[in-house]
Amino acid sequence: MGSQRKSIHGQWSGRLAFILAATGSAVGLGNIWKFPYITGENGGGAFVMTYLLCIAVIGLPIMMAEVLIGRRGRQSPINTMRELAADAGASRYWVLLGWAGVVAGFLILSYYSVIAGWALAYVFRAAAGLFTGLTADGVQSIFHDLIGEPERLMAWHTLFMVMTMIIVARGVRSGLEKAVRFLMPALLVLMLVLMGYAWNSGYFEQGVEFLFRPDFSKITPNAVLTAMGHAFFTLSLGMGAIMVYGSYLPDRISIARASVAISIADTAVALLAGMVIFPIVFANSLDPGAGPGLIFQTLPIAFGHMPYGAFFGMLFFILLVFAAWTSAISLIEPAVAWLVENRGHSRVNASVVAGISTWLFGLLTVFSFNIWSDFKPLAVGKFADMTLFDLLDYLTANIMLPLGGLLIAIFAVWKMSRASTVDELNMGDRFFYPLWRFLVRYITPIAVIIVFLNAIGVIDMKG
Ligand code: PHE
Repeated sequence: MGSQRKSIHGQWSGRLAFILAATGSAVGLGNIWKFPYITGENGGGAFVMTYLLCIAVIGLPIMMAEVLIGRRGRQSPINTMRELAADAGASRYWVLLGWAGVVAGFLILSYYSVIAGWALAYVFRAAAGLFTGLTADGVQSIFHDLIGEPERLMAWHTLFMVMTMIIVARGVRSGLEKAVRFLMPALLVLMLVLMGYAWNSGYFEQGVEFLFRPDFSKITPNAVLTAMGHAFFTLSLGMGAIMVYGSYLPDRISIARASVAISIADTAVALLAGMVIFPIVFANSLDPGAGPGLIFQTLPIAFGHMPYGAFFGMLFFILLVFAAWTSAISLIEPAVAWLVENRGHSRVNASVVAGISTWLFGLLTVFSFNIWSDFKPLAVGKFADMTLFDLLDYLTANIMLPLGGLLIAIFAVWKMSRASTVDELNMGDRFFYPLWRFLVRYITPIAVIIVFLNAIGVIDMKG
């Protein structure tokens, strides 16, 4: 089986390496920072159920499509799309899907790195015992001191980008693979340690109930659609990250099994994060719906009042940095792979070029928390209140990723030959392949289109 193509960037050493790397990409700020706060904002259980359904019905089939396209093409998403479109006799404009992915990765990483920088800053603040005994007001002022000063944010953002560039420069086998082999298990151990604390907080049951007991009266159409959009973001789908990792996947490995494992691992970490965060939130009478600042503005209160809080707080933010780091390297990899293939850059050069441009663009996000916090460039409807950072987040997570995922699904089942996808997925022609094909051909595109109608609907409702 396989397309006989070989990646010039090397391959993963095996199934576990790919699963670890792709899980590293999937598990990130999305799971630990975004999932808890959107769950809190949307009322808990019913939202979580919807999200789980979206992972299974939309996320998993699209992940399989994206990995199979990557492995078939064995190049950066741009060159993969160019070649597979030619193979399939499809329009050469499909190459734009590869480009859109590179742009989305660039835009996401530009703000992702700034938020990851907050986590880095908090490692040191927690370790120094800065949170000890603090009230909510004290924690708020630490957060606002940090985000209010452009130089500070810039420094942490710079440090995080340099960390990312170093790993990416070292390449697939020696860089990415070694990093994730160490980072992913460490992450899991840290999560379990924190869960031990949450277990003893006296509010574990309440936290778990909030997370898992669905109250469908709390679910709005908008919450359903938020859950669907987050499924793309959290699984790293729709921009070529999973595609480029798939291009390093050896031929013999089952895409379906690997995708199931990755989705389960990603979901487990998100739920674990919820089970750590919500008991702590309730134990300290904090507000689960506090929004994007949830972990940065509320958890330090908990850390400040628990035994060994400086230590646990430091562990938590180290964990968050690790998770963001392994996602960041996948956000930049499609661009780096393309620079190596088409521009003849060495990996080191490519990482530096991609890293510096992303860093520069990240300044927009840095400034939108302070000197440009009043700059709301779009004056229509829902967008009227959005800073540059809010707009970037909205554009990428709510528009670009679902659009990319939709097009990936369409390409895999409407453009590529059935024979090539049967060959690449290699799961027989009986039950599972037709099921996958049916989902990706009909269910997934319809669901994604609903996401878009929502995005437009939101504009219409207010505008
Ligand atoms: N999945 C990552 C997270 O949950 C974010 C990401 C999105 C990474 C898209 C790569 C591509 O944090």
